[in-house]
Parts: sequence; C-alpha cells; structure tokens
Amino acid sequence: MTLIEGKTVSQAVKERIKNEIARRGIEPCLAVILVGDDPASRIYVANKQKACEACGIRSLKYQLPKETTQKELLALVDRLNADKNVHGILCQLPLPKPLDKRPVLARIDPKKDVDCFHPNNVGKLWSSGAAFLPCTPAGVIELLNYYKIDCTGKRCVILGRSNIVGKPMAALMLKKDATVTICHSRTADLKAVCKEADILISAIGKPKFVTADMVKDGAVLIDVGINRMENGKLCGDVDFDAVKEKASFITPVPGGCGPMTIAMLMQNTLTAYDLQQK
Ligand code: GUN
Repeated sequence: MTLIEGKTVSQAVKERIKNEIARRGIEPCLAVILVGDDPASRIYVANKQKACEACGIRSLKYQLPKETTQKELLALVDRLNADKNVHGILCQLPLPKPLDKRPVLARIDPKKDVDCFHPNNVGKLWSSGAAFLPCTPAGVIELLNYYKIDCTGKRCVILGRSNIVGKPMAALMLKKDATVTICHSRTADLKAVCKEADILISAIGKPKFVTADMVKDGAVLIDVGINRMENGKLCGDVDFDAVKEKASFITPVPGGCGPMTIAMLMQNTLTAYDLQQK
C-alpha cells in the first residue's frame, strides 16, 4: 500500500506557484467572501488566506454578517467584478439561510470564478474550453498524476453527487478515460457497485462509511470526506485502518485531499490573473 501524501504534493504545487509569481513580479489578488459565522467555513477561509500569503497572492476577506441580504451580497460581487485589482472571487459555501447561492455564483464574472461554479464554466467543464477546473476534483487529478496512477479504461466509482465534488469529479475522470459511475443515497446495492471499483472516490461526508467489505483488492482509495468526530478529531469517509490493507494507494484524512483543494485554488487564482491580462 502506498500512502498518498497530499500535504507534500500540495507544498510542491504551492512552491511552483510561488516561484512563478516571484519570477514574473506579479501580484494576483483573491477576494474571499464569508457570510455568517459557520466555524468550519471560518477555518477553511483562514487556511485559504494562509496559502495565499505563502504563495505571494494578495488576499482580501469580506466578512459579512449572517443577516446580509441577497441584494447586498450581489452588490458586493458586482463591486469585486468591476475592481481591476481583484483577479479571483470566491464565495465560501454554504451560505446561511435564507440566502440562495445560485444567483450569487452566477453573478461572479466567469473570468474571476476560481471555484469554477459559474454555469458557463460548469458547461465548459463538461464540453471543452474550461479555463478553470474545480479545486477539489482538480486536486484529486493532480494526486493521481503525481503518483502515476493510470486511469485509462479503469472503473471509477464516485460516492456523492454534489455540485462541488461528485459531479465535476465525474467530468474530470471521464477526461482521464475512466469508466465512471456516480453513486448516491438512492443507489441500489451500493456495496456491489463499490466492489467493482478500481478507483473509489468518496465525497459524502459520512465518517468511516466505506468499509473493507466494499473495496476490491488493489483498489485506489481517494477520500474527499472531512468529518469532525465527537472527540474533535478529523476523519474521512473511509474506514482507513481496515481499508488500507486492501488498497494499492490510499489518501489519509487529514493530509490527503484537503491541502490539494487549497493548492488548486492558488493555481486558479494565477490562471484568473492571466485571463484578465488578455
Ligand atoms: N465549501 C466547501 N467547499 C468549498 C469550495 O471548494 N469552495 C467554496 N467556495 N465553498 C466551499
């Protein structure tokens, strides 16, 4: 079994970005919008800002109260869209109720859409011409490439059909020539489907959901889940200790996919900078 060291790979990606930014003498800028006081979102945003600093990317944080109206939020997006010194815009999800994320994501200038959540960019992701790749799925692809894991013709099973991970992950695995199945809470005989997987990617947010009896011998296990347990520790969707005996490659949680998501956000911010020079 090979442990997929996302932390190490993410550091290499960030180092590459930092060097490029320094060499070119540029200062890309990422604006992050955080509405309300969700504790997990606060931590994610703080980690994104830390990574910006490490790469030489300027970061601006817009912390808005949970009472913010849809109109106020859209007005901020308009202001950031118009600001030539802002290259990337990210609205941290989930938004507190009753805010609706869809009009907000559709309002972000597609050239500044570092999350790749704008409908135009989602469409390009499934056809061609995508400038951005969604951060978490792109981070998984980066890991597969780094460890030279061949996807061609392989059976890839994805657990979870979210817009943030499951669906875009399927698009990227199709581009890698895998045969892709997306499973979800209504999938019949989930265990049998998972057992067919050469590459099993879980993004459902259920601690230790993927057990050893669901895994084929020699499978590649990619765990996108980040679940906080009662004792405060983080754990993935995969029962790591039991599954690692059967896996050929496996990502840990923490230190697997999480750091890669942030590294790919840095990459997308640099891409956004370049798009705006054209
Ligand atoms: N919430 C959980 N993951 C993400 C992400 O990748 N981007 C944003 N904006 N919010 C998130």
